[in-house]
Amino acid sequence: MESNANTLMHDYIEKMTLDEKIAQLIQLAVPFFEGAEGGGLITGPMASLGITEQTVRNSGSVLGMAGAQEVINVQRTHLENNRLGIPLLMMADIVHGFKTIFPVPLAIGCSWNLELAERSAEIAAKEASVSGVHVTFAPMVDLVRDPRWGRVMESTGEDPYLNSEFARAFIRGFQGTDLTSDKDRVAACVKHFAAYGAAEGGRDYNTVDMSERQLREFYLPAYKAALDEGCEMVMTSFNTVDGMPATGNVPLMRKLLREEWGFDGILISDWGAVKELIAHGYAADESEAAYRAIQAGVDIEMMTSCYAKHLSELVEKKEVDESLIDEAVLRILTLKQKLGLFENPYRAADPEREQEVVFCEAHREVSRELAVKSCVLLKNEGVLPLQPQQKIALIGPFAQSSDLLGPWSWTGSKDDVVKLTDGIKRKLSQSAELLVADGCGIEEATEEQWKEAEAAAQAADVIVLALGEHSDMSGEAGSRANIQLPEVQLELIRKAKLLQKPIVVVLFNGRPLDLHGVYHEADAILEAWFPGTEGGNAVADLLFGDANPSGRLTMSFPFSVGQVPVYYNAFNTGRPQGAEDAQVRYVSQYLDIPNEPLLPFGFGLSYSKFDYSDAKLSSDLITVDQPIKVTVKLTNTGTVAGEETVQLYVRDISGEVVRPVKELKDFKKVTLQPGESSEVEFVLSEEQLRYYHADLKHHSDAGAFSAFVGPNSQQTTQLSFKLVK
Ligand code: BGC
Repeated sequence: MESNANTLMHDYIEKMTLDEKIAQLIQLAVPFFEGAEGGGLITGPMASLGITEQTVRNSGSVLGMAGAQEVINVQRTHLENNRLGIPLLMMADIVHGFKTIFPVPLAIGCSWNLELAERSAEIAAKEASVSGVHVTFAPMVDLVRDPRWGRVMESTGEDPYLNSEFARAFIRGFQGTDLTSDKDRVAACVKHFAAYGAAEGGRDYNTVDMSERQLREFYLPAYKAALDEGCEMVMTSFNTVDGMPATGNVPLMRKLLREEWGFDGILISDWGAVKELIAHGYAADESEAAYRAIQAGVDIEMMTSCYAKHLSELVEKKEVDESLIDEAVLRILTLKQKLGLFENPYRAADPEREQEVVFCEAHREVSRELAVKSCVLLKNEGVLPLQPQQKIALIGPFAQSSDLLGPWSWTGSKDDVVKLTDGIKRKLSQSAELLVADGCGIEEATEEQWKEAEAAAQAADVIVLALGEHSDMSGEAGSRANIQLPEVQLELIRKAKLLQKPIVVVLFNGRPLDLHGVYHEADAILEAWFPGTEGGNAVADLLFGDANPSGRLTMSFPFSVGQVPVYYNAFNTGRPQGAEDAQVRYVSQYLDIPNEPLLPFGFGLSYSKFDYSDAKLSSDLITVDQPIKVTVKLTNTGTVAGEETVQLYVRDISGEVVRPVKELKDFKKVTLQPGESSEVEFVLSEEQLRYYHADLKHHSDAGAFSAFVGPNSQQTTQLSFKLVK
């Protein structure tokens, strides 16, 4: 079967002219195809790229088209005009939902819930597929340590193990097990390869330069995990890796991705990244940019025309071997074949079924459930949960806002969003009163706004402040140097504080914030991130105790921006703080702020209280074939049922290269009734103690280790063991 398909694809390649082949390697966005269903094509955008109508007619894929009828129309016209009848691949960024929008990926990460993450991707795939999408540009699995970078909201956080687990879950959800027969799934494209998350200074598109060991140990595992799970495509990143832009980086793409990892799927450039090789100073002109990218094995050039304009000349001049083009075309046709497009070029696109499937009740329920699990309770001094009979003043720019979807939700609609006011109103009895006022905008305020808010606050028992960043303040090109709330919102908190009433802050934002001016002022803080379509309902569930907060941070909240990057799995230095023989001054520290983040990786509160006791190891020796068990007794000493995320970390006491102070190795989610206890057990094996040595070989060292078990990366019980080999 496989080889028949392969022969068929080779037959196509035999029949194709060089220009037809090159056109397969070009990806243009929707505006190029508007009007295509009427037989014509819009020529404006083509002129700007300097390409011909013929090239567009023969192109291999489309960026950002969704909607069953439109896809059907464009595909039909395309096939009528395409000499060999090769269907278009429809690719789009379906990142955290299609019409049913889920929380942003950073929030999903904080759920530590792989089943729900998978389910969210499955639903996104189903809605996207029935609307005509074949490939999603997701998951984004870049490891992130710098909250100034706006794209941290697209990642699941700062830990390579957890990011890898989520990468796998997303791939399973998007792709299922058989893309050919299961038309409710779409192919996934893991991005941005590689290490885009390490952009210097958190400034988007910026340089990345790091040792290969750092790259392999922290940054590469999640991409690899996605590929091991069968991910069909990879997208290049904008940044350099070891001095070479990823999009033209032969060692990264040919050696590592293709040869070492054996990846044989489609490699697509990020938007405009081929032409950007010129600005990087890595190509003198578009022809050289095309040369660099095709040599690196980039199969599809997204949104620029270096391939369209120069590849054929490069082949004619024998600077590029035509076999490189054939190889790229084969990969593209193979994915089309796998998706069943040669048999049915419309695949699952179906305007009638689209009405039933997209944004259905069942999907929204999952979105609400995941949003509930993604919020993180950062502080609670006896104010939450709220009581329905309390008089509540809901104040702030997010009180009545529908900007809860977050970046990368272009297929969603703000009109579908459940706002916080509406979510809260549904919780209140008829007689209870909810006083609502904006208080200020996101970045500016008027005196009238404050007066209205003050009147509401004066009349209330408790003030709920809904604050945050609007969705353009994170996401792509959304870097910020100051990651506090905008000044007008800090001023709102100060004014509210003068009224001496309990203050609950609900935060809507796309990055860990510097919480100066919020953390000490508020009595309770709920981090809601961008919670998606059902945001208002989910937050209200948590505020009123109908659901119990269970989210745990997967990215540290810095004490202040001056600490950034700050992450839990760091190295110790030779002069760590707190060492027995540490001096007062000459230690690795800041003179003016602590070393620790305000809130560490793994942190999150609950309305239950969890007590850890009796942590122990089954043996203090571990061998290659004899793992050990780490157990701890967990008791819910609170008054409500709740879910705890028990975390297991390890430290290698002395390595051939220095090792992180802690590394997450496993976690268990446990639900306990009030008064209930459970023994939580982990199995720890030699395999989990391996790391990249000086020669980049991955293995373990005999010697002393610590295991840590606890509710977050800071509050842990330490146990000691030895690896004997
Ligand atoms: C982003 C990618 C995205 C692509 C296509 C780029 O600007 O970096 O993440 O997939 O656009 O929309």
